[in-house]
Parts: sequence; structure tokens; C-alpha cells
Amino acid sequence: MDKIPFRYGTTVSNFAFTDRENERARLKSNLLSGVNTVLLAPRRWGKSSLVEKVMEDIKSTESKVRTIHLDMFSVGTEAEFLELFAREVIKASSNQWEEWMHSGKNFFKRLMPKLSVGNDPSNDFSISFDWQELQKHADEILNLPEIIGLEKGLHFVICLDEFQNLASFHGYDIFEKKMRAAWQRQKQVTYCLYGSKRHMMADIFNNPTKPFYRFGDLMLLPKIEAHKWEQFIIDGFERSGKKINPTIAQQIPARMRNHAWYVQQLAHYVWNHSAKEAGLTEFNAALQELIQANSPLYQKEIELLSATQVNLLRAVAKGETQLTSTEVMQNYYLGTPNNVIKNKRMFIETDFLEEAAGGYEFVDPAFELWFRKLFFRQDYLLQN
Ligand SMILES: Nc1ncnc2c1ncn2[C@@H]1O[C@H](COP(=O)(O)OP(=O)(O)OP(=O)(O)O)[C@@H](O)[C@H]1O
Ligand SMILES: [Mg+2]
Repeated sequence: MDKIPFRYGTTVSNFAFTDRENERARLKSNLLSGVNTVLLAPRRWGKSSLVEKVMEDIKSTESKVRTIHLDMFSVGTEAEFLELFAREVIKASSNQWEEWMHSGKNFFKRLMPKLSVGNDPSNDFSISFDWQELQKHADEILNLPEIIGLEKGLHFVICLDEFQNLASFHGYDIFEKKMRAAWQRQKQVTYCLYGSKRHMMADIFNNPTKPFYRFGDLMLLPKIEAHKWEQFIIDGFERSGKKINPTIAQQIPARMRNHAWYVQQLAHYVWNHSAKEAGLTEFNAALQELIQANSPLYQKEIELLSATQVNLLRAVAKGETQLTSTEVMQNYYLGTPNNVIKNKRMFIETDFLEEAAGGYEFVDPAFELWFRKLFFRQDYLLQN
């Protein structure tokens, strides 16, 4: 398996991880010096991978720092969240399950947890609470890492992925205030919060009327630069006993506009299509495969759009910038100015489009290639 040099679809933190030296240094230094950090970037640019990498760095050098990673993706209620939070904090505080039981009993004043351990303690340790009690004393759980940290001389770094999912909880507004109030005061705990819905995240952390406004350092994760990708691709081929033409190594990030997931996916396909050396033929076969592999998804996305919405994408693809000008609205059948404004906002909020250099850009580079081919017959393959 390790012979395959490129990875996509999972977080990467070992050989398939590249660059990010500056972001790693900044995030690590924040987390070790008590600066809560919020990481913002569009989908699949590498947020989770960066955090995973930094947590590994921290784990390997800091014996008094305990790292915890919680994914909110599958957490549906406040109670579930609090139980998960309590369990993982307790588990991270010691290697011995006997101590977990001890902590579970001793660190709560008003809450009475039900604890259990199964045959395989590291997986079967569970903690649960009476829901009404939990609602009244949620702060006991939110403060648990601080209390345990003080008692045991430990520092916790708690990373919450897909944080914006919490916002869909029933009663989130009140819970949000409780979290902020508890976490802001903690000295033994640093939080790293991030998630794939960029605009929801920005609304939670960048809105002066919301509790989490100015919670910590807002890090806008940039893309990995083209020359870093080129070298990464050349090295990956070499390591696995193959070669790649330098122009092709340059075209992979260029075509995918340095988008982390797609660069890895395209590099992987090119590598797969190459027996020994990757050139133009292999590149084109790989690009075709990538677009085909993703097209059912793109098709579905388009099917969910109205005619005026699709027309708006066509106008953007043609480089139009004045979308509410009479001429553009008439030429592309965009509907009323109100339609245009609403549709534009929807596309930006859902990370379909991004404002860039006075105009608009597609966030997803491969979707754009597919879209241009479908609607304007523009070929995406490389010519000789
Ligand atoms: N530093 C990196 N070096 C090389 N490839 C990377 C790096 N970071 C991310 N990738 C590639 O991008 C893909 C997506 O990364 P990751 O899941 O970390 O992004 P994300 O921003 O958390 O995505 P989502 O918004 O979907 O949660 C990975 O599977 C990997 O192929
Ligand atoms: Mg992620």
C-alpha cells in the first residue's frame, strides 16, 4: 500500500503530507501557548490534515500536553456532545482505565455519571448522564479538562472538527453561550475549532453579535503553492520507482488550481496510468478519468439548481462580473435583479462560487472543467 505515493479521501499526515511549514508552526505555537484557534478554509483544502499533523507533532514532543480530537460530524445532540467530550477528556488524562473510573467518579460535584467498561477498555469505556441533570450542569462537563488539568498538572489541546454541526442542535443559542463562557476562562485547555462549511464557521466566529466572536486566532488556511506541489509530485513518482515529465508535474496543480484534494486525486490517476513514465497521454487519460469519476456528483448538484441559477453559473464561466447589469441579465436569462442577488448569495454561502479579483470564481476546479465542457464544449485535455 505504501508504494502508492498519493492519497485523497482521507486526512493525510505522513508521507502524503506536504508543505504547510508556516501554518504548522503557527498552529502549534498557538496551541502550546494557550491561544484558541479557529481554522477557516473551503472544503477539502486540508484543514483536518493540518490539525492531525500538528497534533502528532505535539504528541511526540510534549509529555504534559494531552491532545484530543473530536469529530462533530456524527454528533446530533447536546447530550451526545457532552458525553463524548467527557469520555474523551477522561480517557486522555491517563493510560489506565482504573484511573478513568476514578476520574469519572471524583471530578464531578453535582453530576452523577454512569460509567462502564467492557472487555476492551480503550474502546468500551462509556459514560452517560441523566439528561435533565446534564442540562442543568453542562458547565461541569465543559470545565472538566480544566479541573483535571489543574489536578494532574496537564494541559489539554482539544480539536473540534466539523464544529459548525453544533449549530444545528436544538437549543444551540443557549449552549453556545455556555461553551464560550466556560472555555474562555480556562488556563489548562486550548481549543482548535474548524469545519468544512466555511460560511457557517465565519458566521459563528466572525460575527460581532455572536458569543464566539473573537474567541481566538482566526487562521485562514491558504492553498499549498504550485511549486510545492510540483516537487511533491516529482518526489512521489521517484520514490515509487516511476518518473514524470516536469511539464506534466506542473500541469497537475495548474489544472486543479492547487486544490489539495484534486491535486492528489489527479496525481494518483496519472501515477496509475503510467507504467514507467508519465507524459501527455497519461495525463490526459487521468484527467478524463477524474472528470468521469466525479461527474455523477456534479450532475446531481446541477439537477438541484433552477434554470436561472444554472444561467448564473454560465455567466460566471464566461467571465461576466456585472451580474446585475441589464445586458448581462438579458443575455443569460438571469431573472430579476432580486433573483440574481439571491442566487449569487446562495452560491457564495454554499462555497460554489467565490469572489475574486473583481469577479467570481468557481471554488471547485474540476467542476468548472466539467461545466465548461458540458455547456460550452470547451475541451479540458492538454494539447501537444
Ligand atoms: N498538507 C497536505 N499535503 C498533501 N495533500 C494534502 C494536504 N492537506 C490535504 N491534502 C489532500 O487534500 C485532501 C483533503 O484534506 P482534508 O480532509 O484534510 O481537508 P479538509 O479541509 O479537512 O476537508 P473538509 O472540508 O472536507 O473537511 C486529503 O485527502 C489529501 O488528499
Ligand atoms: Mg475536514
